[in-house]
Formats: sequence, structure tokens, C-alpha cells
Amino acid sequence: MTGDILKFLEEKEYVSGEVLAQKLGISRVAVWKQIQKLKDMGYKITSDQNLGYCLVSRPDLLFPQEIQRGLSTKYIGKEIYYFPELKSTNIMAKEKALHRAEGIGEGTLIITERQSAGKGRLGREWFSPVGGIWLSIILYPRLSPSYISRITLITAVAAVKAIRICTQIESQIKWPNDILINEKKVCGILTEMSAELDIIDWVVVGIGINVNIGHREFPEDIQENTISLKEASGKDVLRVKLVQTFLQEFEKCYEILKRREFSSVLKEWKLYSHTLGKKIELNIGEKVVTGEAIDINESGALILKKEDGELIEIISGTII
Ligand code: BTN
Repeated sequence: MTGDILKFLEEKEYVSGEVLAQKLGISRVAVWKQIQKLKDMGYKITSDQNLGYCLVSRPDLLFPQEIQRGLSTKYIGKEIYYFPELKSTNIMAKEKALHRAEGIGEGTLIITERQSAGKGRLGREWFSPVGGIWLSIILYPRLSPSYISRITLITAVAAVKAIRICTQIESQIKWPNDILINEKKVCGILTEMSAELDIIDWVVVGIGINVNIGHREFPEDIQENTISLKEASGKDVLRVKLVQTFLQEFEKCYEILKRREFSSVLKEWKLYSHTLGKKIELNIGEKVVTGEAIDINESGALILKKEDGELIEIISGTII
């Protein structure tokens, strides 16, 4: 109902309570109650005795109606579950993904203003205060489980492009899942899946972007290596626009992946890579390997040239 009222309010400068009541088939008192609800949500609405209600400004909150307004995707973000606070959007998305039969469709989005137990890779904590973007997308690709690393890579490409479109900032991808600005982490991706032997059951792509967060807000132990878009650009960034742009870019890349035409996205990944051409030290399980990151192959594996010249393929690991 509040969504319908907003639609009418954005069409005209002023809309009377009477017109709203008529259009929505409710009483004027019910309209007034809905207007109060919108005000409580952070919408600034003034009222004039003769002219009616006027929408003055919208809150910078990630409400579904805000994200879906002007979102041009076919299915990513068409269904949105919004929470002012959650433990972790990935945990919630994984629970929902089990209910595909009950209408939790491909592209369903879980989004929150803050996470109380955000999850990073390797069981790490992910600091997720108000002001960031913390979201997870549920996917059911008919692909083999070996595609999982490619899904992380396309997510990174979509994030870099969205950041550039919305802030003009050029960011870089540190294999496999970090987005950096000036060598500092601005965004992380956590891809989780459930699969049979040869086919994916569901995938949850979680992405966290440090958007409007002050440097001093970050815990001391990560301050040195962390940055927010606000810090990098010197101004607040419109989070709704950034979410919309990311979802649009993500859908484009994901469609390409589903057509098994990964090479075009891979080309872009290489263009934005922070890792290729660098000498790196990698943690893979219990082992540490050193060498030059020379390429990413068609399966999304990193090709490392060891000091003795041997080439090895690495599907998953962490750069030290
Ligand atoms: C990493 O770099 O270690 C991955 C961080 C992923 C964080 C995002 S925030 C939204 C989603 N929900 C989570 O609990 N984690 C991911």
C-alpha cells in the first residue's frame, strides 16, 4: 500500500487525500495512516490543507520499492527481502534457497542495512555497519559445480563496473574476490553453493561494499587495509543507485555465463585485475606457494608460474 501511495505522490507535486483515497479504494483516514507510516520510514512528506500531500525527499535506505523503481533487470532483484538488520544476508539467503518450490525464484535478493554477524571468506567476520551495501542473490544455474569460481569472477566484474558508473572511481580485482581502491579493500564477495555431483542445486552470491562509512568507524585492526567509497570519492554515494547498477551489470554477466560464453567477461576481469603480472604468495590449504600470477584460465583458475618455471592451476586460495 505504501508503495502505491509513493507511485501517486511521485507523479504530481501535490496529490490530495481525497484523490489518493479514491484511487486506492480506502478511506481518507486510512490514507493518512499510510502517510504517517511513510514518514516513519524516513520519507519527507508535507501536507497542504488545500493542495494535499507532497513528497519532498526519500530516505537513503535500501527499501525494495526504492531499488525496484527504475531497475531494468529481467529477474535479478525482482523479488526483494529487506531487513533493517540481519545476522547475515548469506545465512538468510541460504535458508530461503531451500524453498525454491515455494516461490523463492532465481534472482531473489536479500538485503539489509546492517549485519550483526556478517560472514567473510574462511570463516572470518565481515564488518557490516549502517551505510554499507550488504546483499545476497539467490541463483539456480543449470551449470556444473565447477562454475562456482566463475560466478565469483563475474560478480567482481559487475561490482567494478557499478562502482565506476556510480562514482567514476576505478577499482581493481584482487583474485579471487576482493575489490580494491588504492590497494585497500572496498568490497568482498562470498559465494556459497549446494550441489549434486554434476549440477548446482543453488548458489548464494553475497557481496559487501563499504559505501558511506567513515574511516574511523572501521575496527582498528582493519583500518589500514580498508577503504570506503565515501572516503575514496570525498562524498556520500547514493546506495540505491549503486545497488541498481550492480544488479543490472550482474544480470548481464550472469546471462553471458549461462550461455557458456565466459571468455568475454574474463577479458574484462583481466582488464581490471590487480593480481595478474604480480609476484604473489598464496595460501592454498596448508601450503604456501610463491610465483608470478600469469593468467586466469577459462574455468576461472589462477595460473601461477612457480620460481622453478612450473605452471600450476589454482582454483581457490588466498593471496597473502
Ligand atoms: C570476504 O571478502 O571475505 C567476503 C565478504 C563478503 C561479505 C558479504 S556482506 C553480504 C553477504 N553476507 C555475509 O554475511 N557476507 C556477505
